[in-house]
Amino acid sequence: MRKYSLRAHNTFGLDVFADHFLEYHSEDELRELISEGRVTVPFLHIGQGSNLLFTGDYYKGTVLHSCIRGITVVSEDENTVCVHVGAGVVWDDFVCHCVTKGWYGVENLSLIPGETGAAAVQNIGAYGVEVKDVIVSVDTVDLNGRKRVYSVDECCYSYRHSLFKEPSSKSVFVTGVQFRLNKIPRFVLTYGALREALSDEKTLTLQAVRDAVVRIRRSKLPDPAVCGNAGSFFMNPIVSRACWQKLLALYPYMPYYEVDAERVKIPAGWLIEQCGWKGRSLGQAAVYDKQALVLVNLGGATGADIVALAKAVQDSVYQKFGISIQPEVLFVGDGMKTE
Ligand code: EPU
Repeated sequence: MRKYSLRAHNTFGLDVFADHFLEYHSEDELRELISEGRVTVPFLHIGQGSNLLFTGDYYKGTVLHSCIRGITVVSEDENTVCVHVGAGVVWDDFVCHCVTKGWYGVENLSLIPGETGAAAVQNIGAYGVEVKDVIVSVDTVDLNGRKRVYSVDECCYSYRHSLFKEPSSKSVFVTGVQFRLNKIPRFVLTYGALREALSDEKTLTLQAVRDAVVRIRRSKLPDPAVCGNAGSFFMNPIVSRACWQKLLALYPYMPYYEVDAERVKIPAGWLIEQCGWKGRSLGQAAVYDKQALVLVNLGGATGADIVALAKAVQDSVYQKFGISIQPEVLFVGDGMKTE
């Protein structure tokens, strides 16, 4: 029997069902659910489902969602403020709160869909900022009901990755995040389009930066409420300098970002566009016509349609450039296995 619809819980807008759906409002309520044996295996912990792809139409297991809310100042001095945020707080509500309060650090991450807990798991990033840059610590509860606070160093953050994405952390639930923000203006304007969008501003303000980020995002990225998608579908591949130099000889206009002395990041959106995929569809799944890194549901697509398109795109990029691009979104199977 199809029990619980997850359609409102995945931004691809896929028609998927699960056996059980549980929500909790505090760490204690989560621990109670665990001790009552209601968190049955397999389980999947989700935020707003903005970085998920259900590959089938049924998840044979329990889906958990945190409704832990609240934004609380923990400590502050003249220069900084430390603030604790519940995992279930909508990320952009927190950004908006910071901008209103005059706290600097997350404004470049405006309008990213999802909730605060998932932001810390995924290490969301945009316009020269990653959320790890402002995280102090992450609160968790594990499947035995044990609480543990991880310092930012213990979270092992890297590009769109953290310890909490490792299979070994599958039974660790993020319940809250502590951030340190600046009270003294400190803007990050390394991203060219953001700098340009702000070039006419006489005095830079947090609100102006937020507005510019929102404008840029709206011009390039589809609104999940209108067109199902999960933001960037693939990660930007990081390649050796030798590989980058070979490609640059063939494509001198190729955009890239320096990572460190050995490695360079190449925008997957550019690679995909060069393969002719931008704006093309396969059934009801398509490569977005304004940003080739985003796959969209044109209406009525299944998880399998999106997977088929993703594989076709990956194959083309590999054939043309010899680079294997990897999904940023989490593929979730039927609960019996996670792809
Ligand atoms: N590009 C193309 N064609 C495209 C898309 C991009 O040629 O269809 C080129 C652009 O011209 C530019 C370069 O690729 O030279 C980079 O494009 P863009 O600035 O749009 O950023 P991105 O690398 O495609 C990343 C993040 C985004 C984030 C932006 C801005 C990843 C996987 N994606 O995209 O994050 O908003 O930078 O910082 O790192 C997300 O994670 O969901 C997301 C939207």
